[in-house]
Amino acid sequence: MPGLVIVGAQWGDEGKGKVVDLLAERADAVVRFQGGNNAGHTIVRDGEEFKFHLVPSGILYPGKTCVIGNGVVVDPAVLLSELEGLRGAGIDVSGLKVSANAHLIMPYHIILDHSGEARLGKQEIGTTKRGIGPCYADKAARLGIRVQDMLDEKILKKKIMAALEPKKLMLRPYEKDRRFAEMLDLQKMTEDLLTFGHRLEKHIADTSTLVWRTLDEGKLALFEGAQATMLDIDHGTYPFVTSSNPVAGAVTTGAGVGIHDIDEIWGVAKAYATRVGAGPFPTELFDETGDRLRANGREFGTTTGRPRRCGWIDLVALRYAVRLNTLDALVVTKLDVLTGLDRIKVCTKYRGADDATFDTFPYHQSVLHRACGEYEELPGWTEDLTECRTESDLPAAARDYLAFLEEQAGIPIVQIGVGPGREQQIWTESGRAVSAIQEHASA
Ligand code: IMP
Repeated sequence: MPGLVIVGAQWGDEGKGKVVDLLAERADAVVRFQGGNNAGHTIVRDGEEFKFHLVPSGILYPGKTCVIGNGVVVDPAVLLSELEGLRGAGIDVSGLKVSANAHLIMPYHIILDHSGEARLGKQEIGTTKRGIGPCYADKAARLGIRVQDMLDEKILKKKIMAALEPKKLMLRPYEKDRRFAEMLDLQKMTEDLLTFGHRLEKHIADTSTLVWRTLDEGKLALFEGAQATMLDIDHGTYPFVTSSNPVAGAVTTGAGVGIHDIDEIWGVAKAYATRVGAGPFPTELFDETGDRLRANGREFGTTTGRPRRCGWIDLVALRYAVRLNTLDALVVTKLDVLTGLDRIKVCTKYRGADDATFDTFPYHQSVLHRACGEYEELPGWTEDLTECRTESDLPAAARDYLAFLEEQAGIPIVQIGVGPGREQQIWTESGRAVSAIQEHASA
């Protein structure tokens, strides 16, 4: 019963969607377990680019079971528009199932996300302003509206009234603005949700049992993480984090499976590092090398279009992600972006404010905020990698770079990305040896 979890090992946008998309062909179910439409996945299939925010990456395979688990927060308008877009492109979306227990992002959550950031001013977190944080806050406060509530008008209205009550004061300024007043109108909100519920009804399901069936029948279930380890609300760079747990362990709460259902955990990391939004980023580059990585790697947010902050790969953070998620293997993406650099820097330690160096991820925020990377330098390469299809096609310097990452991370690299296309993902020899999933992938 192979369960494979794929998580981001850095600050997000590592290319998880593409990895999932490739493996999804042989999987029985692809399952999202946290986050919402703050995520953004770009998948290139036969030259056509698809962008998803909410729908699992496996949706491009006709009829594939694609699950939005209970741990995901769902903006129903966004979900419906993604489904419409897919249908318009001729894609069969009948396999999409949404947990009846997933929480809904409500219009007031989006307003509160905007107002929360505005209140913080210069100290803002740089959220995607999609209402993610306020929605998870309501879930924890037991004031959440769930997917199943869209199917019952009476319950829905009652729950919305209860949820709005403690927010009245904060929302009052917005009620004066016609645009927001309409978003906050109880009657309209209820009617919209009932319509959404009606349109989504055939997709609403008890998704845990669906996933159990896949696992119990010995078929491959892929659990697709969103965001990444360093954005985890408990283990990331709090408060500059998202409001869910993107670490692998969250698959148990967010999809309703047990720890023993998981057979392999892969982390996805870029060959360098990026971050969107505010918060510590010890290897950030503020020079032309950073600009070059941004331009060559097309490092602009899929969800917000914001330019991503770019830097060298951070092995202190990566080793932390390996341990925290108990990663079995790494996928290194976007290796081709490093082509043309004379020397490539790799952060192996941090230097603190007191000039002392350390090589483990600091728990104390003041230490982390002042830490900067200490580097080893490796030779670069000039060859274009985008046509490489096996490890041996890679120049020696690129192979040496990967070997260094493997040694430092302490786990094998299972796949290497050399471009956005499906054919530009290389399985490694050590990956084939370590991963039972390979058998499924090529079955
Ligand atoms: P939120 O998830 O919208 O609340 O944003 C909180 C932080 O997580 C911000 O720094 C966002 O930029 C970041 N974030 C959220 N989703 C993603 C993602 O999919 N990739 C990268 N960063 C993300």
